[in-house]
Amino acid sequence: MDIIEQNKIRMNRLSANSDGLLRQIQSLDWDELETALVECIFKKEESGLSDEYGPASYFPIIPENPVQKTLYEKAYKHGENLIREAKTSAFTVAGGQGTRLGYNGPKGTLPVSPIKAKPLFQMFAEQILGISRKYNVTIPWYIMCSPLNLEATTIHFKDNDFYGLGRDNLKFFAQGVMPATDFKGNLLLASKDSLALSPNGHGGSLKALIESGSVADMASRGVEHVSYFQVDNPLVSTINPLFIGLHDLQKSDMSSRSLTKTGPFEKLGNFVSTGDRISIIEYSDLPEEKALEKEADGRIKYRAGSPAIHILRRDFIEQFASGERKLPYHRAEKKVPHINENGKLITPTEPNAVKFETFVFDALPLAQNPLILEADRLEEFSPVKNKTGVDSLESSQSDQIKRARRWLENAGCKILDNCLIEISPLVFPSKIDIERKNFHNFDFKKNLIYLD
Ligand code: UTP
Repeated sequence: MDIIEQNKIRMNRLSANSDGLLRQIQSLDWDELETALVECIFKKEESGLSDEYGPASYFPIIPENPVQKTLYEKAYKHGENLIREAKTSAFTVAGGQGTRLGYNGPKGTLPVSPIKAKPLFQMFAEQILGISRKYNVTIPWYIMCSPLNLEATTIHFKDNDFYGLGRDNLKFFAQGVMPATDFKGNLLLASKDSLALSPNGHGGSLKALIESGSVADMASRGVEHVSYFQVDNPLVSTINPLFIGLHDLQKSDMSSRSLTKTGPFEKLGNFVSTGDRISIIEYSDLPEEKALEKEADGRIKYRAGSPAIHILRRDFIEQFASGERKLPYHRAEKKVPHINENGKLITPTEPNAVKFETFVFDALPLAQNPLILEADRLEEFSPVKNKTGVDSLESSQSDQIKRARRWLENAGCKILDNCLIEISPLVFPSKIDIERKNFHNFDFKKNLIYLD
């Protein structure tokens, strides 16, 4: 391909005076770059879906009939057994650059809890440890970083004594990177010694789980299921018995949680189905007329949105090892600072470059027997993505406080209005754990409650 040859010639010339750049050029996977260029620049990106798709069906969070109720009870117990038998692991994707938030450091180190200012990583760690203790089991936790934040992430955990989980039960690894190009496919340089590189998207996690030895580690521990969640959602249920149980009972390769969208155009991926295949299409790819379609009862048809919470079977991930199964590249147009031919740093004010990313949800249409389980948004989803407004630290803290209040009020506690509340996930990893507690001797007449 001409553009690949042109890039090689130009990079050979530019790397003559830079060992750093030379090393990058030598280790660059040119075939992979060619694939990405073809998929994102030289051929119009296609969703791979015909227009024949319809809304995907899902298991509602509240069972709708006695048969479903019995199934959920069975699934919950089954999920608990799988957890107890050490068949589950937690997996966090934390390799993103968090540009919208603009926080200086790995996003997982951002303090988020409303009273104790616990970082995101601590919130997950405590929940995982709480569940491990409850089921008297070790739950290994795999954390995917990027080459840019791997070191800072591991230092954070070391400084915090791995939050009590034990060094051996945590595995940190870096995902792959891809070089950015201009809109014609020419590689960009971040400096005279380096290409402009960025993480290859959360879809890079499948390959990274294999190449880092994480999947082999899971196999040696007897782990069968990988509970996948993003680094930015402190409300996530990291290891959910009902979800795990349903997924395993249905022999699903990959299962997902869904949220009921707040409206037809909410910016969440949409679950759609063609036959027995489930896919997620981006909100921008759902045509307006489809987005507005309604059921007879008035609810929008395409109401199942994705909060990016999945369970994958370990042996399904292994199928991506040989390279025969691959995820497609998506084109992201971004502002990428770079140096020009004269070595001058250009800081664009408009998108000037293409970043190539793969998305983990593109594995869903390849999965056998996939299923979707609805999640209650107020209970399980309030991510920190933006500096202000929707999905910000402020909105997430407010949701954390509201959830804590609901949990306590459900358990029969009377709480003052405007009380600031935080519940330790170590002691109460889920709502059920609060319901089981007897609070008779606890004084709730306070303006601030930290429950641990
Ligand atoms: P987002 O799509 O929110 O991207 O990632 P981001 O990079 O964190 O934030 P912005 O868009 O730059 O503001 C969703 C999840 O996927 C992870 C992120 O860390 C987050 O948990 N992710 C994203 C990766 O692990 N690797 C990537 O290459 C991209």
